[in-house]
Amino acid sequence: MINSEVTQNTDPVLEIRDLYKSYISGSETLAILHSVSFSVPSGISVAIRGESGSGKSTLLNIIGGLDRADAGTVRVGHFNLEQLSEAQMNEYRGRHVGFIFQFHYLLKDFTALENVFLPAFMAGNSKKDATERARQLLADVGMEHRLHHYPSQLSGGERQRVAVARSLVNDPDLILADEPTGNLDPYNSQSVADLLFLNAEKYHKTLLVVTHDDRIAARARITYRLNGGVLEHLDDSGERP
Ligand SMILES: Nc1ncnc2c1ncn2[C@@H]1O[C@H](COP(=O)(O)OP(=O)(O)O)[C@@H](O)[C@H]1O
Ligand SMILES: [Mg+2]
Repeated sequence: MINSEVTQNTDPVLEIRDLYKSYISGSETLAILHSVSFSVPSGISVAIRGESGSGKSTLLNIIGGLDRADAGTVRVGHFNLEQLSEAQMNEYRGRHVGFIFQFHYLLKDFTALENVFLPAFMAGNSKKDATERARQLLADVGMEHRLHHYPSQLSGGERQRVAVARSLVNDPDLILADEPTGNLDPYNSQSVADLLFLNAEKYHKTLLVVTHDDRIAARARITYRLNGGVLEHLDDSGERP
């Protein structure tokens, strides 16, 4: 078992202990995560690397409440995920964690503004407050000139910028980004990564990003690698933001 710890004075926003996850495939049991433990202090950016199939998405999905572990504990803020009912899990997913995927998953019948507005409105904010916040975040990602465009009218990079704005709209404790630039050309990858890291910093978010891109991983304060179900601590650069 490898325990990867980053000690800081602040309480970790994310704390994972002895996480196990396997999938049954025919007569075989595939161990995907094997006693994964780590913690992340508030406001820190973390990159997770690893070969395709190493379990990165499985790990992010468990942290994001989209999947459940076989054993172990995940605490995000004051939420102990393994103890949550389905209703509490919905509340957690909707308000306390922001997700950005490789594919944007924007609602195709809604404009950029509506895609960012809706999660905030559905979380109980007034129409005025949700609109104001959505407009601010879209300006933060340089999309103020495309508020009324539909996803089909936006470029790949623009869609991911909207997804970045959407991930922040409910002011979550934690942003999870699963290969957020995996579908973009190098220029757009860098510009979306810039906006992701800059806004995570601006809004004091803890960011967990899965990436294959060295340049993006190098921007994170801490880097881990998932290998054979085990999480290895690769780098912890105090100099980086
Ligand atoms: N629902 C599932 N049932 C069976 N095997 C799965 C399932 N989801 C993922 N896997 C397997 O688990 C491994 C890890 O998958 P994943 O977390 O998506 O890896 P990564 O994101 O690192 O590419 C892969 O070998 C994949 O085939
Ligand atoms: Mg994946």
